[in-house]
Amino acid sequence: MKSVFVAFASIVIACATAPSQTIRLEDIDLSAMDIGWGSPQANLSVDGNPISIAGTKYAHGVGTHAVSKCLLTLNGNGRSFSASVGVDDEANDRASVEFMVFGDRKLLWKSGVMKKGDPAKVCTVALEGIKLLGLYVGDAADGIDYDHADWADAVVSGMGNLSPHDLTAGNAAENNEQILTPPAPETPRINGARVFGARPGHLFLFTIAATGKRPLRFGEVGLPQGLTVDPASGRITGTVFAAGTYPVRLTASNALGSTERELRIEIGDRICLTPPMGWNSWNCWACAVDDQKVRSAADAMVSSGLADHGWSYINIDDCWEIKPATNDSLLRGEARASDGRINTNRKFPDMKSLAEYVHEKGLKIGIYSSPGPLTCAGFTASYLHEADDARQYASWGIDYLKYDWCSYGKIAKDRSLPELRKPYAVMRRALDAVDRDIVYSLCQYGMGNVWEWGAEVGGNCWRTTGDIVDTWSSMSGIGFGQAGHEVYAGPGHWNDPDMLVVGLVGWGPSLHPSNLKPNEQYTHISLWSLLSAPLLIGCDLDRMDDFTKNLLMNDEVIAVNQDPLGKQARRIFDDGATQLWVKDLEDGSKAVGLFWVGGGGKDPVDLFKWDGATSRKITVTAQQLGLTGPFAVRDLWRQKDLGVFVQEFSAEVGYHGVVLVRISSAGGGR
Ligand code: GAL
Repeated sequence: MKSVFVAFASIVIACATAPSQTIRLEDIDLSAMDIGWGSPQANLSVDGNPISIAGTKYAHGVGTHAVSKCLLTLNGNGRSFSASVGVDDEANDRASVEFMVFGDRKLLWKSGVMKKGDPAKVCTVALEGIKLLGLYVGDAADGIDYDHADWADAVVSGMGNLSPHDLTAGNAAENNEQILTPPAPETPRINGARVFGARPGHLFLFTIAATGKRPLRFGEVGLPQGLTVDPASGRITGTVFAAGTYPVRLTASNALGSTERELRIEIGDRICLTPPMGWNSWNCWACAVDDQKVRSAADAMVSSGLADHGWSYINIDDCWEIKPATNDSLLRGEARASDGRINTNRKFPDMKSLAEYVHEKGLKIGIYSSPGPLTCAGFTASYLHEADDARQYASWGIDYLKYDWCSYGKIAKDRSLPELRKPYAVMRRALDAVDRDIVYSLCQYGMGNVWEWGAEVGGNCWRTTGDIVDTWSSMSGIGFGQAGHEVYAGPGHWNDPDMLVVGLVGWGPSLHPSNLKPNEQYTHISLWSLLSAPLLIGCDLDRMDDFTKNLLMNDEVIAVNQDPLGKQARRIFDDGATQLWVKDLEDGSKAVGLFWVGGGGKDPVDLFKWDGATSRKITVTAQQLGLTGPFAVRDLWRQKDLGVFVQEFSAEVGYHGVVLVRISSAGGGR
């Protein structure tokens, strides 16, 4: 055995120096492979099993999931590509995929539609002269459900100095982490929401978000009766009984100066007048969440400075309840007390004290449940206990509820609109019966066009899609897929394209840096801001690097999301490669996103249109924006005025990137 190994090792060394060589696909940096669900696996299926196609096992290859795209830079050094491809045996009968191989944007080979059980097809493609090799797995036009696809024994043979690193180096060219957000000034500045709603007679908590050298001192003119501001922390607390609109002048001062800004407080029926901003445990910890992780997220929300920019919710997702069918002693126990009150599992020993801990930091706390008997992860949920649970949340001091369809699928008679609406209306009534403002977030992945009726059943936001993951196809597919939903959003009721996937994510316990490239992360945050989407950070707040902080602490970008007019952006241009989105703002200006999506859509040929260029000129015209006179343009990421323009404005936009600007009339009408 030993001698065989030695012989094999010497062949590899010999190959590395010889003019011709082979590189196995699993040896490249697999983060260059963008996939529709999960992460690409070296020598395993996407679910982590041995690669297996129609009963044949393969020791080598890459397990992926449609829609899967990978662009490799050969620069003419390739000779051939070969692989055995097929649907992995771990998939179910719904799986159907099509493999395609592109060379310099031309289709070189395709498998035709393949289903589970089809024997592997052998692909052999000559690569002489090819600069860019594209490997694509499409969903065969029936959605990506269970599309577990294998590139088994996939090998690029080539000449010269081809190395696994070189193959993905082209992708790394756009991977420079460029920090664009300038540091906040030392002088005081008030950030965050400019309008805040609360119900009469309910506890009120609003923390003034402000940057500037500490200590800061806060003051106000015009707070309604019942509210006071703590001068040291800027926390406004109390209870207002009289409904009405109260324009309040907030002030903040430090050793270097002072500033003021208006906050409109609306006491009435409506809450959540700007999209909620905060953190949710799911995209980092999933079921590895516990009390300590939530406390440390709250600590980091403040110590990192995020809270100074308006981030305020700390939301616990699934897995805090008792899990009926488990042997795990941390999760086992009586689901409810004899009076119906829900119990927490041992990872959350005291929910009330946890809520107090979060509130003492000036933050708010959220929780998660399902209208079915069990949550998506199989924990106790609210079915037939909606009133018990709403009361319990209120008594713990919960400020936000994410209510996730999950096992209600087994209770609903069908997927008709009345059946889809029913469980959400039931919990709405339960929440209305408690004397606490609780933001109500519907989660049912967009069934029955929830955006058309989410506000009617009393949702403050509603998920429009399935779960996001940290890949370009997932993020861009969801984000750019929101076009047309803008008519349904407004203050108090928002479309929710799911949570943010920047920073260290991973669905716990182990985390990884987001697979989105820096340009893609700028696109993610810019697009979600334009979309007036809830901004729920899904990363470990304790371990944010400077790049992630730069993405999350740009007050001019956040102001687009939090604009009091509450208008969601609409898409005004889309040619498959570039898109323009416009959001009307309260002061009459417009936030405009110029995006180079580079063919992130479903068309594989479109995808591989990229010719290696790292930027592209994109233009928006005055006519497209409905402007008739000169207009001033400000770059929001760089917080820099770019000048006054008349007919049009053009910018160089990075691959999969964005230039986000604010455009205001510069005289002569708009
Ligand atoms: C999914 C939901 C995710 C997460 C998860 C918890 O249905 O879309 O965001 O909440 O359930 O199990």
